[in-house]
Amino acid sequence: MTKKTLITSGKGGVGKSTITVLLGFFLTILGKKVIILDLDFGISSVEEFLKELEPVFNLGDILTGACSVEAAVNSSRYKKLDFIAAAKNYTMNIQSSQLQQIIKSLEGYDFILLDSPAGLNLDECINDEIIDDALIVANPEKLCLTGARNVSRLLEERGILERRLIINKFNSKTWKKSNLESLDMVIDFVTARLIAIIPFMEKLEVVSHDFEGLVSYKKFYKALLNLANRYLGTDVKLLFK
Ligand SMILES: Nc1ncnc2c1ncn2[C@@H]1O[C@H](COP(=O)(O)OP(=O)(O)O)[C@@H](O)[C@H]1O
Ligand SMILES: [Mg+2]
Repeated sequence: MTKKTLITSGKGGVGKSTITVLLGFFLTILGKKVIILDLDFGISSVEEFLKELEPVFNLGDILTGACSVEAAVNSSRYKKLDFIAAAKNYTMNIQSSQLQQIIKSLEGYDFILLDSPAGLNLDECINDEIIDDALIVANPEKLCLTGARNVSRLLEERGILERRLIINKFNSKTWKKSNLESLDMVIDFVTARLIAIIPFMEKLEVVSHDFEGLVSYKKFYKALLNLANRYLGTDVKLLFK
């Protein structure tokens, strides 16, 4: 069975695409076959991280019927991690039935990660027939967490019961100073179980085209490996000190 996970957030720039691609990569380290579907129309973040060559076709070409789903699947520089690039020059809304059809053609994968645009832009086409669960990414700031709460509520209304929170760009120094009293409070507030706390990583740009190099950044590497393991249902600890 292929598991379909939406990666979303209330606010832009929180690290959705980064987390999507890194989670995909770490799942392949754990032996899984993964495809990322970039749903962020216009901004080709996933492609930037993963491409070897300019993709010939993208999601827009599938939607206009210019190519088959199979033809739009690109291999990445990482083994077992494929992707479909974001639509360019495609301005119409994607329909649930279209997305469902695309996902159906990708059943050979263990996981389909859907990288979404910020906010509720995709809400029309997302429901519990399309995805199994959602990972909501937020930075440890009040505004961001409020956005995450709004998205979590919307997903709940759409029947998505499995919603988990990833706190990204965590910095223990700023956390202590922030007005967010405790982690429990954050989880209650967002109404999504916490699955990972990913540290702020200064050198991300340096390793963004060579994830194998991440192994030198132990804390960050471990946090991502733990995220991938927890996502797979393995009982490993959160790591954020
Ligand atoms: N854990 C992290 N530490 C430091 N910078 C990060 C981290 N995660 C993401 N970023 C940076 O934040 C910016 C936005 O990330 P991106 O994944 O494009 O966000 P989104 O997809 O939510 O808009 C990028 O410059 C990215 O390198
Ligand atoms: Mg993005």
